[in-house]
Amino acid sequence: MSDLVDNPFFARVWTAMSGHEPETVRRLRTENLAGLTGRVLEVGAGTGTNFAHYPPGVAEVVALEPEHRLAETAREAAAHAPVPVTVSGDAVEEFAAREPFDAIVCSLVLCSVDDPDAVVRQLYSLLRPGGELRYMEHVAGTGMRARLQRIADATVWPRLLGNCHTHRDTESTITRAGFRVDDARREWVLPSWAPLPVAEVALGRAVRD
Ligand SMILES: C[S@@+](CC[C@H](N)C(=O)[O-])C[C@H]1O[C@@H](n2cnc3c(N)ncnc32)[C@H](O)[C@@H]1O
Repeated sequence: MSDLVDNPFFARVWTAMSGHEPETVRRLRTENLAGLTGRVLEVGAGTGTNFAHYPPGVAEVVALEPEHRLAETAREAAAHAPVPVTVSGDAVEEFAAREPFDAIVCSLVLCSVDDPDAVVRQLYSLLRPGGELRYMEHVAGTGMRARLQRIADATVWPRLLGNCHTHRDTESTITRAGFRVDDARREWVLPSWAPLPVAEVALGRAVRD
């Protein structure tokens, strides 16, 4: 179990929210995991919402969830997953692998780690050559939305929501770590006029050459 992440309020909020996801988000989760095979590392699994979406070609998922209340719920979800899933209580920064992974999955988590550049470089090193990072992350917007995101990040948002930062340029972080992005797009998961800083997500596949 990790000491790095302990968020009782966020754990309650996320348990409620992840049980009521809109159809758009569920569709993007399925798309983000489509075609994966072999051994997969999932970073920050939350309540295990991705588990039901893993395709049958996946031999094993190692899922990291350092918030122990969320990890408990994730272990219950793992018991019903269509592929074998083991939930570890390590934070990604503490995790060391015995052998490289075929793929790594990040969804709605790179906003919450303290040092995204260091974490994404670490993820690169945990993949075999040719292995891929699948990501679905909310990202920094422009104009009014960027201003709203910066205000949210400087005030209550990270404190209330498990260190979530809304104005992160995660796509650049991924390329800076050495990944080649071979398929990527952005999509609104809430109407673009909604005054919420997390309405737009980037979805993509980045390869370690
Ligand atoms: C917004 S939730 C998303 C959960 C899940 N990935 C999903 O798509 O539903 C962010 C998760 O990242 C986890 N997290 C935060 N910091 C982490 C870290 N350093 N290492 C691993 N997981 C972390 C949190 O505990 C939380 O469960």
